[in-house]
Parts: sequence; C-alpha cells; structure tokens
Amino acid sequence: MDISHASSLSKADALALRYGEDSIPAAGPWNDAIALLLSHRSVRGYRSDALPEGTLETLIAAAQSAATSSNLQTWSVVAVTDPAKKAEIAKLSNNQKHIEQCPLFLAWIADVSRNERLGAEEGVELEVMPYLETFLVAAIDAALAAQCAVTAAESLGLSTVYIGAMRNNSLRVAEILGLPQGAMGVFGLCVGYAAPGVANEVKPRLPQEAILFHNTYGNPDEPKLRAAYDAKMAAFSARNEMTQDTWTKRVIGRMGKIAALSGRHLLTDALHAMGFPLK
Ligand SMILES: Cc1cc2nc3c(=O)[nH]c(=O)nc-3n(C[C@H](O)[C@H](O)[C@H](O)COP(=O)(O)O)c2cc1C
Repeated sequence: MDISHASSLSKADALALRYGEDSIPAAGPWNDAIALLLSHRSVRGYRSDALPEGTLETLIAAAQSAATSSNLQTWSVVAVTDPAKKAEIAKLSNNQKHIEQCPLFLAWIADVSRNERLGAEEGVELEVMPYLETFLVAAIDAALAAQCAVTAAESLGLSTVYIGAMRNNSLRVAEILGLPQGAMGVFGLCVGYAAPGVANEVKPRLPQEAILFHNTYGNPDEPKLRAAYDAKMAAFSARNEMTQDTWTKRVIGRMGKIAALSGRHLLTDALHAMGFPLK
C-alpha cells in the first residue's frame, strides 16, 4: 500500500494547494482517499522503468469497478507498449514526447461493438445503436473507468496524463489499434514513474463559488472570481511552466480558434465512418 503524495498532506494544506489560501472551502470530513484525490497532478515526463508485474491488471480492475450505465460496459481499453505504435500515436498527438517515454499507454475506447456483436449473435437488432445517446453513454463510461485507473495509479506512486490529442486523427488511431466499427478511441493515458523534476505543483482550480451552485445556476460575482483565479494561474504557470499565462488567456487560446482543435473539428465525420451515426 502506497497512498503516495497524499497521506503526507494535511487537510488544510491539501485544500490550500488546490484553491489557494484565500479560497479554501469549508470542507468537513477528510481521509486519505480524499487527500489522494486532491493531490492529483498531470505529469508530462517519464522514466522508462517497467511497471511492477500485475500493475496493468490492477489498474484495469479499478477501472472496471467504476459505475457503468445500465451495466452495459460499453468501453474497452488497449494497452499500448509497442514502441512503434506509441511513436505513431505521439506523432499524431502533437508530438507529445511523454507518449513515447511512458512504459504504458492506455487507449480508452468508447465501445459499443461488443454489444453490437451480442445483438448479431442473438439475432436481435439493437435499435438504440445509431443514436448520439449511445455514443455518449460509451464515452461517459470510458471516462469514468479511466479516472478510477488514474486514482489507483496515483495511489501506487505512479503518475499519469490524459491525452485528448489522440482524437486529432481518430481514424488513424482506429487503424493502429485495429478497432472494429462501433469503437472509437476517446482519449489516451500515459502511465509510469515521473522523471525527476517534472512533477508540477498541484494546479489550482476555480474557487467553488464559481462552479458549485445551490438550487439555481449562477453567481453574479463570476467576473471577479475569474480575475482572482487568473492571478493565481499566472503565478502557477510562472513557477511551473515556460510561460506566464492567465486562465483567461489559456481558455481563449484553446477555444478561440478552430486551429487549436488540431483536426478534431472533423470528429463528426470520423465518428460516422467509425460506425457511430449519431442520430
Ligand atoms: C480528457 C482529457 C484530455 C487531456 N489531454 C491532454 C493532452 O493531450 N496533453 C496534455 O499534456 N494534457 C492533457 N490533459 C491534461 C490536462 O491538461 C490537465 O488535466 C489540466 O491542465 C489540469 O491539470 P492537472 O491534471 O495537473 O490538475 C487532458 C486532460 C483530460 C481530462
């Protein structure tokens, strides 16, 4: 049992790291599991050390313990360790070097193909298959499962980073991984031991007043809350990254121009080709 970064942090310290001293919420109960969740940070540099035997299977057992819509289990995962496949996925994911470095790359698949095969074997047409709802169920299932694997990995002293850029060229990813129709790689996940000096501080989040509402949505102080968070994120990025950016600047950079989607604006067409009509 290695509840890693977590158990060393007191509740007050963990909340201060997550929100900044001035925005600590009035949190009540506390334990090591919550401390572990609050200590999460993405890591973008890995040692090449292999994972201890059985780690993959343990992470997947954690993933399969997530809730799954109607127990349909509409997700799969491809464990990618082949250096050539990792290199190609890295290349099409904006050359993110950590994909090649990490000993284990997990490609999380929204997968209705197994259910589709079940229908075919039983001679039953599954009428819900072509609907957007069915894709959404599968994508949500995959995300919930992956996050359980992330928490399990972090509890073992491993680090992770999600790779949404795996959707830059979903059709090529489907070819690389040999996916059938009705299966789409929704994101990747690097898993491994953090290289020395790469682990950032815990990245502050928006204050709870900006995202937690009681009974009715909204907070008229949103602009003020954003300004305060911008200052925190600018300081965080100055300490941890090459640039000093506010959150506002990052959001505009990521959402202001279609070019920032790196090909993902064509996802609807790709999904149609992969067997998701999205009716
Ligand atoms: C679905 C998803 C896709 C992501 N894709 C990438 C990615 O392609 N590359 C990357 O470096 N980080 C990626 N991230 C990590 C986020 O940038 C990171 O979670 C966010 O900046 C908050 O930082 P933290 O995880 O350290 O708290 C992704 C996160 C999620 C949830």
